[in-house]
Amino acid sequence: MRWERRLAADVSPGMDHAWPVASNSQAMQHPIAALPGETIHRSFDLYRETPGPLIALKEAVYGRPVDRKLFAWKYFAHPRADEIRVFVGESRGEIVAATTRLPATLIIGGVEHPAYFNIDSMVRPDHRRKGHMRALYKLACKQLPGAPLLISKGSSEEIYPLLRSLGHRVLRPDTFLVSRTSPVRWILSRLGLRSPAEHPSKLAPADFDDFEPIARFGKEHDGYFDSVSRQFSAIFRRDAAYMNWRYVDIPHRQYASFQRVNDGQITSVVVLALHGTRGLIVDILWDIERRDEPDRSIRFSQAWLSDNGGANVACFATHLRLREALRACGFVDRGDTPHLSAFVPSEQEGAFRCTVLHVVDGDGDTELS
Ligand SMILES: CC(C)(COP(=O)(O)OP(=O)(O)OC[C@H]1O[C@@H](n2cnc3c(N)ncnc32)[C@H](O)[C@@H]1OP(=O)(O)O)[C@@H](O)C(=O)NCCC(=O)NCCS
Repeated sequence: MRWERRLAADVSPGMDHAWPVASNSQAMQHPIAALPGETIHRSFDLYRETPGPLIALKEAVYGRPVDRKLFAWKYFAHPRADEIRVFVGESRGEIVAATTRLPATLIIGGVEHPAYFNIDSMVRPDHRRKGHMRALYKLACKQLPGAPLLISKGSSEEIYPLLRSLGHRVLRPDTFLVSRTSPVRWILSRLGLRSPAEHPSKLAPADFDDFEPIARFGKEHDGYFDSVSRQFSAIFRRDAAYMNWRYVDIPHRQYASFQRVNDGQITSVVVLALHGTRGLIVDILWDIERRDEPDRSIRFSQAWLSDNGGANVACFATHLRLREALRACGFVDRGDTPHLSAFVPSEQEGAFRCTVLHVVDGDGDTELS
């Protein structure tokens, strides 16, 4: 892609010509008007403005360089990139605060509802506790179309009180379940005598010949995601474009995706990751009508992660059947929580309350950084 090559080679703050231009420019709707010395909170147009100041802000907040390729992947390669919204606080012509909303779709009882993930919320250290983030969250709520559900994967202690005061509530059940792949492997890895496979195998372990690797997601997966999503009371929409963006084309992480196939039909999809010797079920979607699922997919995940050096396997699960199956496969609840929270607009309240939500945490709130 044009912008990927340009970014890798030469993008630096100020080089706006390197960035793609969307047809539905956001700047046209929200003109910029900063008076000297005044702090304004406004929508930022990714396609009309140079993203250099956003990158500079992130570097000032986290004290390390931002990988341009990663930034481009996140903001411009997303299959719904045109719908990504960024809100900024500008003081004396400088961007000192920003927060991003990444589009998603929540399907509740077969009906699609707009949703956004809150990501990249940051304020320059010398501008904190002046109400910038509060103002930006309120601005986002006002300007986002369609009264969306807003989700936060928050690890920062500072952001919780803000989210709570804005009406975010914790998604429950809210804990990880964890299993050891084998006591011997666990002890060896604790002693530093066992390390994860350098190049994890793409193949399914023995006894799991009903599983096969997915190199790229395609049309057959779209069909599977559509039909299976209808079985769940509430679930975030997946499609091949999203799965490829998130798990295949991602520049800074490696995942292994597998599908279970029975009689020529996909019956389950799992996405696995290894962080050192820590195995993770990053995503799992199973055919609810199969009595042997999700247990078989969980056992497959344990076997694959163990074969590739995982000493334990963690899975964040809100869905009650999934939690039950994890327990049946030897997982225990250690009480750790990723602090997933959601702001549910009153329009969606009724539908949201009476459902069993299937939410995965991916690999936490740093997965896109
Ligand atoms: C978290 C962060 C975005 C807050 O931005 P901010 O503009 O300073 O926040 P605000 O001034 O709007 O504060 C809003 C509320 O958040 C809470 N808050 C903010 N900073 C806090 C802190 N250091 N300790 C405790 N609570 C804090 C308070 O409830 C505050 O309300 P109050 O001032 O009325 O008590 C900012 O500290 C930051 O950039 N941190 C580093 C990056 C980060 O952790 N991002 C969040 C990733 S999940």
